[in-house]
This record gives sequence, C-alpha cells and structure tokens, in this order.
Amino acid sequence: TSTMTDAHERSFIMVKPDGVQRGIVGEIIKRFEQRGFKLVALKMVTPTRVLLEQHYDEHQGKKFFEPLLQYIGSGPVVAMVWEGLNVVSVGRKMLGATDPAKSEPGTIRGDFAIVTGRNIAHGSDSDKSAKREIDLWFRADELAVWTNSAERWIY
Ligand code: PPS
Repeated sequence: TSTMTDAHERSFIMVKPDGVQRGIVGEIIKRFEQRGFKLVALKMVTPTRVLLEQHYDEHQGKKFFEPLLQYIGSGPVVAMVWEGLNVVSVGRKMLGATDPAKSEPGTIRGDFAIVTGRNIAHGSDSDKSAKREIDLWFRADELAVWTNSAERWIY
C-alpha cells in the first residue's frame, strides 16, 4: 500500500567548498538525477557564520566544531533540496560514511574523498533534520513546484 511511503520526502544536500572547488558539483547532481530524485531547489552561497552555527547547532562544543565552521564557511557551497521516496536514507547511502576512509567505493565520498574534515558533501540524517535544514537554508518561494514530464518536450 502507499500508506508507508512518501514520494514527496525531501532532503537537504550540500556540496561543500572542496566539492565546488574540485569541480564535483555536476557529478553529485548527476548521481541524484540518475537515481530518479527530483531537484526542487538549488543555490550557490557562501554561508555566514550565523547560518553555520545554526546548521551545525547540535555539534557546538565538540572539538571539530571550529574547524568544521572554518571549512564550510571558506567559500561558496551548492545548497540543494532533493525530493523522492526515501531520499533522506538513500541520499545518505549515496554519500557514503561520514568518514571517507570508511565509505564504500561507488559512494560519492568513497569515490572522491579521503578525510572527514574534507568530505565534499552533506546530507540530512533524518526527516526531522531535513525539514529543519531546508527551513534554514531556503525561503518557501525558493522551492520549485514542477512536474517531471519529458514527453512534453521530447517526442
Ligand atoms: S557526531 O559527533 O558523531 O555526531 O559527529 P559526526 O556525525 O561524525 O559529524 C558531524 C558533522 O561534523 C563533520 N565532522 C568534521 N568536520 C571537520 N573536521 C572533523 N574532524 C570532523 N568530524 C566530523 C561531519 O562531516 C558532519 O558534518 P556533515 O556536514 O553532516 O558531513
């Protein structure tokens, strides 16, 4: 039945400054498109300290907090919202383990990263985090409403 599924689930996916500067933005977008997810928002922004303090609020006080904020605030990131069935958990699987040394080959981090402090992309870890992060990074009018219907354009 459809009662246990939510085709409109959303996740916040961010290409971090190293991913942008290494030219991996297209590759990451390509993988989410190929998997069948739908892009509903995208923007490039150099995040302010205030935004990052909110985004990583649960990690305030941890020893990696300052280096993490320096890293993510060091240049433009590509912030995105992707939509689809189980996009939060599948998106995390596609990204691979937080520590790239433990990420399987074939995952984004497993193919492109080596250390946690430079792990090229972020993905929401739960539905609750996704909602919180999307609210933080995007205004409601930045989330596009559109229908996937290639037949209208290619025939
Ligand atoms: S924890 O304590 O287990 O909840 O932390 P973890 O889930 O492993 O990581 C939380 C986010 O912090 C990033 N992180 C780091 N960044 C830079 N340097 C170091 N040493 C470091 N350790 C953890 C990690 O990538 C997570 O951020 P996101 O953006 O979700 O990947």
